[in-house]
Amino acid sequence: MSTLHPLSGLCIFITITMIFTSLGSVSAAGYKTARAPAVYKPSPWTQAHATFYGDESAASTSGGACGYGNVVTNGYGTDTAALSSTIFTDGYGCGQCYQIKCVQSPWCSTGVATITATNLCPPNYSKDSNNGGWCNPPRTHFDMAKPAFMQIAQWKAGIVPVMYRRVPCIRTGGIRFSFQGNGYWLLVYVMNVGGAGDISQMWVKGTKTAWINMSHNWGASYQAFATLKGQALSFKITSYTTKQTIVCNNVAPANWNLGLTYQASNNFH
Ligand SMILES: *[C@@H]1O[C@H](CO)[C@@H](O)[C@H](O)[C@H]1NC(C)=O
Ligand SMILES: *[C@@H]1O[C@H](CO)[C@@H](O)[C@H](O)[C@H]1NC(C)=O
Repeated sequence: MSTLHPLSGLCIFITITMIFTSLGSVSAAGYKTARAPAVYKPSPWTQAHATFYGDESAASTSGGACGYGNVVTNGYGTDTAALSSTIFTDGYGCGQCYQIKCVQSPWCSTGVATITATNLCPPNYSKDSNNGGWCNPPRTHFDMAKPAFMQIAQWKAGIVPVMYRRVPCIRTGGIRFSFQGNGYWLLVYVMNVGGAGDISQMWVKGTKTAWINMSHNWGASYQAFATLKGQALSFKITSYTTKQTIVCNNVAPANWNLGLTYQASNNFH
């Protein structure tokens, strides 16, 4: 998962034409859609609560439910959070970016934290949802890495009311594809996704194949049961929130290997 392959191919932007795009109206999610390349717009501020986990090093944020591995070395830094299942939505919330600010607590500071969703805050039904079961549905809750929480409140607060909104994910460079699996099964962890940051569907194409539909495995990982060894690979990705699709051509060269990470030259914005 550690090597970053610098190969970049010709990449093109395409837009899935949707009814609400052609009408120029507002989608169900409330985001105005525009002609490609669409830029993800922030959502309105909404109420929730936040706690923190781990310590200042954010070491405990590694190995989260999105499958990003070590989030600090994989580019997400220490400004990350675990989402309650209501907004984690079975992993489709992975990679989304949020601004969070503390409100109505004496422990609030004036800072606004910008975090990436990298983990699930699981429900604990043995606790009341208003007394420790903060992540129980239908609550919207952010269990923030401690360095992120300390930007908005004093850690002594434990739990604080917050206002939050979705914001575009600002990423450097193209989408990254981390390969796992075996000779007959390609499992791809998708990282560094810009714009809405999330994924709803994905396809892979070898130089000798048509587009192969991949299925969602867990977190931000997608799989194809196919033998693709020895073929250069391209990927097509649809955003969960915006439904926009981009194609990343020749992301991995024909001699790609499991355990390596390959980077496209393009990204969502
Ligand atoms: C859920 O809460 C109970 C009661 O406080 C606690 O004993 C248990 O460890 C919690 N479970 C998890 C998975 O955190
Ligand atoms: C592709 O796979 C996904 C996940 O298994 C499925 O929901 C979707 O219907 C499939 N799409 C097509 C066009 O086969």
